[in-house]
Amino acid sequence: ARAATRGDSLLGFEGIPTQLDQHFDRVEVAPGYSARVFFSWGDPVHADAPEWQPDASDDWQAQLKQAGDNHDGMHFFPFPDAPDSRGLLAINHEYVNPTLHPDGISLVDGRRPLEQVRKEQAAHGLSVIEVRKDAQGEWQRVMDSPYNRRISGMTPMAIAGPLAGHAAMQTMDDPEGQTVLGTLNNCSSGFTPWGTYLVCEENWHNYFVNHDADDLAARVSHNRYGIAGSGMSKLYGWGTVDPRFDATPQAGQPHGGFVNEPHRFGWVVEVDPFDPQSTPIKRTAFGRYCRECSVLSLGEDGRMAFYSGDDTKGEYVYKFVPNGRFVPGADAANRRLLDEGTLYVARFDADGSGQWLALAHGEHGLTAENGFPSQAEVLLNARAAADRAGATPMDRPEWVAVHPETREVYVTLTNNDGRGAKQPLDKANPRPNNLHGQILRWQEEGGDPTATRFDWEVFLLAGENRGARDAQGQAVAANLVGTIDGDCFSSPDGLAFDRDGRLWIQTDFDDDKPTMQAMGTNQLLCADPKTREVRRFLVGPRGCEITGITWSPDYRAMWINVQHPALSFPASDGRSRPRSSTVLITKNDGGVIGS
Ligand code: FEO
Ligand code: CA
Ligand code: CA
Ligand code: CA
Repeated sequence: ARAATRGDSLLGFEGIPTQLDQHFDRVEVAPGYSARVFFSWGDPVHADAPEWQPDASDDWQAQLKQAGDNHDGMHFFPFPDAPDSRGLLAINHEYVNPTLHPDGISLVDGRRPLEQVRKEQAAHGLSVIEVRKDAQGEWQRVMDSPYNRRISGMTPMAIAGPLAGHAAMQTMDDPEGQTVLGTLNNCSSGFTPWGTYLVCEENWHNYFVNHDADDLAARVSHNRYGIAGSGMSKLYGWGTVDPRFDATPQAGQPHGGFVNEPHRFGWVVEVDPFDPQSTPIKRTAFGRYCRECSVLSLGEDGRMAFYSGDDTKGEYVYKFVPNGRFVPGADAANRRLLDEGTLYVARFDADGSGQWLALAHGEHGLTAENGFPSQAEVLLNARAAADRAGATPMDRPEWVAVHPETREVYVTLTNNDGRGAKQPLDKANPRPNNLHGQILRWQEEGGDPTATRFDWEVFLLAGENRGARDAQGQAVAANLVGTIDGDCFSSPDGLAFDRDGRLWIQTDFDDDKPTMQAMGTNQLLCADPKTREVRRFLVGPRGCEITGITWSPDYRAMWINVQHPALSFPASDGRSRPRSSTVLITKNDGGVIGS
């Protein structure tokens, strides 16, 4: 345990140690705080949902009414008339674990059972649940709320922006190229100033396969994203029984069968949590890549940027700048803002300056001769466009957070074991075989979210503390030692500021790995951006990632997610099936979290 307050530090809590117990199956928080499991995989979302079966025997229709799996990014949307006592929580369900089925994921004669595939699709997407304070001032779910909603891998969604109706979006099931079924691999997220949720599609390529080796080699929109070329898709093999996930071109079929289906994922999906009948909209002006998040920076004059990482080794940091400005109250106009704007990608120069490179047709060699006949192809193949523009390949960009007052921007670069080999070292990605990751920060020129240049620096390198020794008493290798002032951690992923400017950091590393033994289980830490001190606030159960973070507007309630725990969390009885869960954290004296 560490001292509570040091000088005028923002960190007002006592830090906790790493959790080294191999059987640890709980959540532990700083002294004076409480953590309560709030919403687990299988919990009812709709009032008529069947009760969750602990043997995972629920069918897919039940799963469509229950919480999905692998809770990740989330956001609290307050009701305007009661912001601190009533809201809607929107919670992503990134992917599924084998525990979704009674005996794991099965394959029969090279095919997935269709019933299992449907349940897996039903467990993806997101949940919207109403929450409110009860008479005792405790946050509870509203089980019969009309706002409670599941959106899944099967929910119809509209396509908007430059790719709507484009030939590259047409399939034999959707010849108009206007309607997609579902959203997949919804990792982190974002929100707009007009009260909508931005769901991001991260590792969608893993759901597809293209068995035509020549076609795959020639088709940038498949191969640049890592779509599998033989056997089954990397995740779940849905294409063995659900044709739209087999993207092999089919000669003689309209629109080549489903060769374009992978073009319909990798976008930002806008969801209105306050309108449960609304159709989610895929916003194609944001560009297509493996998007972790979409985080708002709002200037005083209503100009905006939405920042995103593409979480793959050597991929890029992006921002989308709408052409228009946010005008409070102008709801209809605001809802068109995400269809027109400029997509930029970041170049981090060695002198500490940076440049936003516009991925705009005709600029940076983005021309027809180079494979970009129009802006639609630039957006569809945003990674290839960013390659050509000369963006800086990064160590797996995950979440972005924007300081509530200075608008300084922070990004987590979670790790990259290929750095120094596949990608050369540079100032922003300075360590070879980077197992522990780093956090960068930058200030846009003039504090303007729409600026095209910025000044950046490394905020910290994660890793073991200076002078650390391994279990054999040997000094830890230099590339594994960080620059953290305070509590050590590896692989920063989730990142968010609270109202007072505390920077909350969530981790995602494999706690089984020998190189991670000093780190214990995954955790939530808090940093003071001025002093750079870091303190550990929460540790999770074995095998989990800690991700997703949101607060009530008074910052006296915080929700976080425990994703893919390994043991029996949240029952923590040593035998129950583990369940990804949202956890509510409060301070026992009712105060602001972290203060
Ligand atoms: Fe789903 Fe990049 O984490
Ligand atoms: Ca995750
Ligand atoms: Ca993540
Ligand atoms: Ca991660």
